[in-house]
Amino acid sequence: MARLIAVSIDCRNEEVRRTFESIVSRRLHYLIAKGQGTGAVDMLLLELDEFRPQHTFDRVRQLLSAAPELEIFLTASRMDPQLLLEAFRVGVKEFLPQPLTRQEVEPALARFEERFSGKAASLELQAGRVIAVLGVRGGVGASTVATNLAVSVQQVQPREPVALIDLDIHGGDLGLFLDVPVAQGLTHLINDISRLDETILRSSLVRHSSGLHFLASGCEAYDDWKLAPGTMMRVMTLLRSFHQHVFVDCGHILDPSIREVMDGADQILVVTTLSLPAIRRTKRLLDVLGQARYPVGKVELLVNRYEKDQQDFLEETETMLNLQIAGLIPNDYGSASEAIQYGKPLTVMAAKTSIGQWYLREVGRLIGESTEGTVQSSKGSVKNLSFLGRCLSSLGGGVGRKQSTVSQ
Ligand SMILES: Nc1ncnc2c1ncn2[C@@H]1O[C@H](COP(=O)(O)OP(=O)(O)O)[C@@H](O)[C@H]1O
Ligand SMILES: [Mg+2]
Repeated sequence: MARLIAVSIDCRNEEVRRTFESIVSRRLHYLIAKGQGTGAVDMLLLELDEFRPQHTFDRVRQLLSAAPELEIFLTASRMDPQLLLEAFRVGVKEFLPQPLTRQEVEPALARFEERFSGKAASLELQAGRVIAVLGVRGGVGASTVATNLAVSVQQVQPREPVALIDLDIHGGDLGLFLDVPVAQGLTHLINDISRLDETILRSSLVRHSSGLHFLASGCEAYDDWKLAPGTMMRVMTLLRSFHQHVFVDCGHILDPSIREVMDGADQILVVTTLSLPAIRRTKRLLDVLGQARYPVGKVELLVNRYEKDQQDFLEETETMLNLQIAGLIPNDYGSASEAIQYGKPLTVMAAKTSIGQWYLREVGRLIGESTEGTVQSSKGSVKNLSFLGRCLSSLGGGVGRKQSTVSQ
């Protein structure tokens, strides 16, 4: 996942601030914090107090002891070599003489980016998986799927941190699905996204009785929220740094913040039903997602509310979409709506029904995602499948699992 670089500027000299901002904002992936806070930023441009340099150095020491990953760029109009040496000793990474020039700043930023990408890559290796769940239209069951998969993973692996984000900024309901009080949500975090850090984020997460951490959208229906570019990338980067699995209910509208989630996600589960309007939108959505050229296996299609007598229609749909459907969730309106009504997961409310069993079976395989799966498809070809493809490889219903991905 591409990671935004949050920068803060602590300078009295307005000219220096403006020049630095203008150089930084021409580069991709930077986010400049409002004000002078150093919250969770990755880099700080700090102006030397030329009358009290020790004061500045003390501040550098404090900042770095609180946030060892922070990089500090020091700037001053004059600097004697002794002070410069001391600045580097206390941990300053770059020195920028004033007045700032592009020739000095650009190479310093390039060096910073190189160091940063090394750190980001190693963090990426330890980060949890993001699974985005997107409905082709309202009502197909995206929230039901996202919630039940997330809760089920948490139930099966109580010690593994699992998060669920309600990213329906047109009025999220997942607090009701989980029967948890939601005082705060995403919308409370986004005033200055560059200051968002793990502590602030944790304080907005609500713990479900299963142990799952839930981040509400904070949006009411008919609110008109737009998330600033980079918001979801930042939220997800933080969430996956301390959760093994992060599920995101993306609703059904592909707005820019949902696209950010799609781009950053490890897996996109598209939820549809076998109704004509839904199939028509599925075709269109898969075409649109195909243009993003995601890696093979990243996008998978789940059919919700599947009835056994729809088998012919299912096969026609697969042919028309040129895609193997990855999973068939049985139709059981009674159990599904009762689970929402009582704010309980299907694996608890309806554990013995076919829909409850579907989630139990899926989650068992979800957790076993590390076991490499090479499966025999119904048509005899052998394919390496992505996790859900592997998960669903032996699911009943007569659907071959020869391929479960959207082709580019
Ligand atoms: N497998 C299913 N069988 C029958 N009804 C379902 C199933 N999954 C979800 N539903 C019902 O569909 C309705 C819409 O579900 P929801 O998850 O809110 O959809 P979305 O988030 O896509 O708008 C709810 O009443 C829910 O109970
Ligand atoms: Mg929904």
